[in-house]
Amino acid sequence: MKLWGGRFEGQTSELMEQFNASIGFDWRLYEADIEGSVAYAEALADAGLITTDERDQLQRGLGQVLEEFGNGQFELRLSDEDIHTAVERRLHELIGPVAGKLHTGRSRNDQIATDLRIYARMAIKRVDESLCEVQRALLTQAEAHQQALMPGYTHLQRAQPVPVAHWLLSHFWPLQRDRQRLQDCRDRLNVLPLGAGAMGGNAFGIDQESLSQVLGFDSVTLNSMDAVGDRDFVAELLFAGALIGTHLSRLAEDLIVYSSAEFGFVTLADAYSTGSSLMPQKKNPDSLELARGKSGRLIGNLVGLMTVLKGLPSTYNKDLQEDKEGLFDTIDTLLLTLPVVAGVIGTLQINTERMRAALDDSLLATDVANELVRLGVPFREAHGMVGQLVRAAETQRIALRDLPPETVRATHEGLVDRWLHIFDPARSVEQRQSSGGTAAQSLATQLAAARGCSN
Ligand code: ARG
Repeated sequence: MKLWGGRFEGQTSELMEQFNASIGFDWRLYEADIEGSVAYAEALADAGLITTDERDQLQRGLGQVLEEFGNGQFELRLSDEDIHTAVERRLHELIGPVAGKLHTGRSRNDQIATDLRIYARMAIKRVDESLCEVQRALLTQAEAHQQALMPGYTHLQRAQPVPVAHWLLSHFWPLQRDRQRLQDCRDRLNVLPLGAGAMGGNAFGIDQESLSQVLGFDSVTLNSMDAVGDRDFVAELLFAGALIGTHLSRLAEDLIVYSSAEFGFVTLADAYSTGSSLMPQKKNPDSLELARGKSGRLIGNLVGLMTVLKGLPSTYNKDLQEDKEGLFDTIDTLLLTLPVVAGVIGTLQINTERMRAALDDSLLATDVANELVRLGVPFREAHGMVGQLVRAAETQRIALRDLPPETVRATHEGLVDRWLHIFDPARSVEQRQSSGGTAAQSLATQLAAARGCSN
């Protein structure tokens, strides 16, 4: 059963049938497709195009098709072409010729645009829940490590001491922005394209407002040509996915580096590690390497769709069928990766003594400069003076705090008294009281805000 055979004389080549078919992947839209059709049957009846009895037959039949998909009884055929054809073909088998009234005024172009938006809405909800899981894992670890200190890095070089919680939460906020981005994408995509027809609108007086309400949309499209050709929401969702992948990749990278013997800051649970077939001693962070690696396909899916969209003429073109596999893959990848990352973080052992041991005096060089500023030295000068002290300590192969008092006095008379107090990482952390800073009060504010986001 083809939905379009009438004007054709010749047979479609088998190769073309295969090439044309999207049923191999778009069967996944069955729920959205049937939901849309049940609502459309209602709209047809409301418009007086079918009787209430015909509506009931259509809706009952669609209910059965849904059930067959749900319990795995639905038999797909290659000749089904796509999910719309498959559902209609089966409906016809179940209820006979009245099935042919369902498509009145509707095109697969407005139908697929509607299905995909319904699917995207559902997908966003699930990805959001998974993001929340990762956030909760980060927050729980942060709550447990508010006192412990570690080196913060820039350029992967030791920079300043920070609370471990502060580092953990630095990975929380990107995910919060991801969630906002998803919500933003959802708000924008929730416009009903059904009634746009093939591209020129619907001639049968279908009540789109009521369709919109029944299907949970916020408004109805204002341009039928745009409605069938618009895949911005897919691109936005793929971008949100690519950025989530990027954030997970950076988090993974921190943890991979920190779990190396050289750092030893964290230990991955056995549950999320694997071994080597050759080297018996190996415990590899494969979970995190895969999380980092998956970002490649997430970014690829975005680039793939952008390339498909660029240069398309107005309205629907079959190229748009290529929007689905990347979208499904992005959603599947995220729903697979996010729970793993949440599991890794939830079971992560944080080796606070190793972190503490990495806090050498050089991390407090900025604090020495700040102290000189408090003594009235212009910061630029203070910076240079401390730079020389650091170099002196380095050449003498001693810690900064162990520089001879005369060297310190030569730098600034007032520095000697304060010298030893400076080399306390906790003091350094407590001094940075800015919003988003490391002091206990700033951290408490941050933790409270994070708690507010992730419940
Ligand atoms: N399978 C198509 C897609 O995914 C559905 C819309 C087809 N429309 C058409 N006129 N051939 O985009």
